[in-house]
Amino acid sequence: MKVSQQRLDINLNYTDNDFYHKLLPKIERTKSGDYNINIWDIPHSISKLSYLVHSDYRYYGKFPSVIAGQILKQFPPNDAEKDYILDNFCGSGTSLVEAKLRGINSIGLDISWISVLVSKVKTSSVNTEEIEIELENQLRYFEKEIFPFKNTPTDSFCTKWFSTEAAYGLSNIRNYLIAMKKGIERDFFIVAYLAIIRRVSLAYDGEVRPHINKSKKARNVIGAYSKKVKDMINNHRLFNQACPRHSSTTVLIGDNLNLKNIESINDKNIYLVISHPPYLNSFNYSPIYNLEFYWGKNFEEDYVPKNHRSLHKTELKAHPATDLIQKKYFDHLKECYKQTFFLQPKDGRLAIIIGDCSRNKKHIPVIDNLISIVKSIGYHLEDLNYRTTHYGLGKYAYSHRADYHGTDEIKKDAIIIFKK
Ligand SMILES: C[S@@+](CC[C@H](N)C(=O)[O-])C[C@H]1O[C@@H](n2cnc3c(N)ncnc32)[C@H](O)[C@@H]1O
Repeated sequence: MKVSQQRLDINLNYTDNDFYHKLLPKIERTKSGDYNINIWDIPHSISKLSYLVHSDYRYYGKFPSVIAGQILKQFPPNDAEKDYILDNFCGSGTSLVEAKLRGINSIGLDISWISVLVSKVKTSSVNTEEIEIELENQLRYFEKEIFPFKNTPTDSFCTKWFSTEAAYGLSNIRNYLIAMKKGIERDFFIVAYLAIIRRVSLAYDGEVRPHINKSKKARNVIGAYSKKVKDMINNHRLFNQACPRHSSTTVLIGDNLNLKNIESINDKNIYLVISHPPYLNSFNYSPIYNLEFYWGKNFEEDYVPKNHRSLHKTELKAHPATDLIQKKYFDHLKECYKQTFFLQPKDGRLAIIIGDCSRNKKHIPVIDNLISIVKSIGYHLEDLNYRTTHYGLGKYAYSHRADYHGTDEIKKDAIIIFKK
């Protein structure tokens, strides 16, 4: 497997409409036949790949933007008005953003209200001038507020993870946002607020599961929030300019085992499904975001319908990969792809992004298992693309995860393309 060993740094001009094409993977075909095997090499740094609104929110466990970009390039819609892509594990909406950049209609679904909110804000054409004016109002208000702020929590969870100053600052922003008129503008500010929580906490920024970092420097909450909003304004301005035409994006909260019953999905022509489930034995999503869920409690009910309150219980569990969790994991995926099969038209494509793992030093061939499962549903395997990625390594990487640099011949990370 030929892999470039170094990150490739190229200069990008964000005002060129299609600058992101320059970052697409370099592809090499290694086998043709009843299905093809290709290598997708992604030699760019994480910050290069987080262009435009991709950097609005740090979502642990998202995939490189160009994976969705490459899939969409290979499978454009036939009818730009009627055709839709569906991402049934949409997370922070990476594929929805890439679809919007290409004028492709999309639907995203996730079990977490924070994911749904982030995806919705990232793909909205917000009025950046109004947001700028509102930020000035907020900063004036925060300047006037003096200690002690109302509703500052003092429970043991808060004091474990946040300094008193950070809790004051976050409460102050929260009080303001609770009183704001509901709508996309408030959603935008809530995303900025949620986006700074890890940074201003006592936990490591870069570790997936929160752990206390005893030597972390204190950060000014209002300063971090204001910078985040300004960065997002800039991202959205460029994003609004880069989107070529109007396309529809719908983001729904729900369980992907319930697809058949969601009317706004099953009345669409889903010509392509992009699907990125949690990786087996890596981590479960809700505990990763417990700091954000804690500070987001007051907003949750605005985003989670009453009959969905126990939704988090249906999250696909991926860790630890005991025999029982492995069985449930593959059963969940089988059921969920049965449903996409049922929904999709003939010739529709399903792209699954998934990686192998190991447990107790024993290799678990997730990719091969999943190929057998999905073929048993009736899909045909078309392309097996192994990927190499030059981040996800280093001190924050988990050794039992699939490695992303292409030198491991056994544990692999793949984009598997099936055709109905
Ligand atoms: C690997 S992440 C997807 C990341 C996404 N591709 C991105 O770039 O942000 C997997 C997502 O699956 C969601 N999830 C887990 N169980 C689910 C279920 N039963 N139905 C819908 N979404 C689920 C998690 O909340 C998580 O956001």
